[in-house]
Amino acid sequence: MLIGILKETSPGETRVALLPESLKSLRAQGIDIAVETGAGTAAGAADQAYIDAGATITADRNALLASADLLPAVNALDSADQARVKSGAVVIGFLRPLDAPAALTTAIAQGATLFSMELIPRISRAQSMDALSSMATVSGYKAVIMAADRLPRLFPMLMTAAGTIPPARVFVIGAGVAGLQAIATARRLGAVVEAYDVRAAAGEQVRSLGAKFLDVDLGGIATEGGGGYAAELSEEALDRGRDLITKTASHTDVLITTAQVPGRPAPRLIRRDAIEAMRPGSVLVDLAAPAGGNCELTQPGVTQDIGGVTLFAPLNLPAAVPVHASMLYAKNVLNFLGLIVKKGELTIDLADEVLAGACVAHQGKPVNPRVAKLLESVQSTPT
Ligand code: NAI
Repeated sequence: MLIGILKETSPGETRVALLPESLKSLRAQGIDIAVETGAGTAAGAADQAYIDAGATITADRNALLASADLLPAVNALDSADQARVKSGAVVIGFLRPLDAPAALTTAIAQGATLFSMELIPRISRAQSMDALSSMATVSGYKAVIMAADRLPRLFPMLMTAAGTIPPARVFVIGAGVAGLQAIATARRLGAVVEAYDVRAAAGEQVRSLGAKFLDVDLGGIATEGGGGYAAELSEEALDRGRDLITKTASHTDVLITTAQVPGRPAPRLIRRDAIEAMRPGSVLVDLAAPAGGNCELTQPGVTQDIGGVTLFAPLNLPAAVPVHASMLYAKNVLNFLGLIVKKGELTIDLADEVLAGACVAHQGKPVNPRVAKLLESVQSTPT
């Protein structure tokens, strides 16, 4: 069996799917590993380190695509690459099957088997494969560092002979994995932190990090969907959150927003009036930008100055921390490979709920019912 590690081609991508230290257990099973030249360079893994770990290096991407049985990747391959994958090959990565299913049709037609890291069920057995949480952890941390760097103020309270500096006030919206990491990071830097989430369960976690949880009376509606995720709310319920956010924004120096509902556009929670309420010099980091953004003024990928308030809308913050983002991601991928590679052979048992949940298509046929439905509508939409 041959595993191919490609150099990622998405603009700005710096991560790599497997690092040299990931290869030991695979090589011990007699698996051959070929790495595209420079695949790990930006993540601190030189070609020579892969060679030392028992891999070969190749500059011939097309030959690698055509010969690999297993292609662990960070992002989905583009359609030209998908067309080169051999029938029956397995591709693993953040394939975005719910928001961009049409982008996978070439690989499916090619007879590939696709596993999406986003779809791995969040059950305890699969926690070590939870790449969404790994990347959210990196993003939550980096968002605070970005904001602290841009803010014309200090984060901690300082009592000096020249006077007392009050602590920065940070407001985090969405207290999931990224939000909780942002809260912890902002607290470590000495900020006073407030947070809001529609899931009441998040309250205890927020308070345990030394932040204040802001409650909104949503009239007892169900705010939790499946798997610990939030449900999509009505406009009326969203409005209650929006009012709280505008009120809180007026005394906030840094607003970090992370609210998402899987497979749906991010809820638009921050109105223009909330940004206008912030004082000049304040910073907003919209971590929901890849899903459209939580702020109505967000332009995904664009940094804006809105009346003196900086609005960051990064599309790939983990790529700004490539070494540790790759380290965590590679470990998640390696743990996932443990389910499908046994004694050096591919063994895919779709009776395993982790594999069934993560499988977009097997040998050219859609598997995950949610994705299958989306693919059907893609195929029936006239172009
Ligand atoms: P996410 O990235 O989908 O959403 C981020 C946060 O936004 C969530 O906390 C969500 O409740 C919140 N949110 C959504 N709509 C909102 C709205 N209208 N207003 C305010 N907040 C809103 O979620 P993430 O961070 O991937 O995970 C959420 C939860 O899932 C975690 O806190 C945890 O409880 C659970 N989880 C369970 C895992 C496991 O059991 N293996 C692993 C990771 C997370």
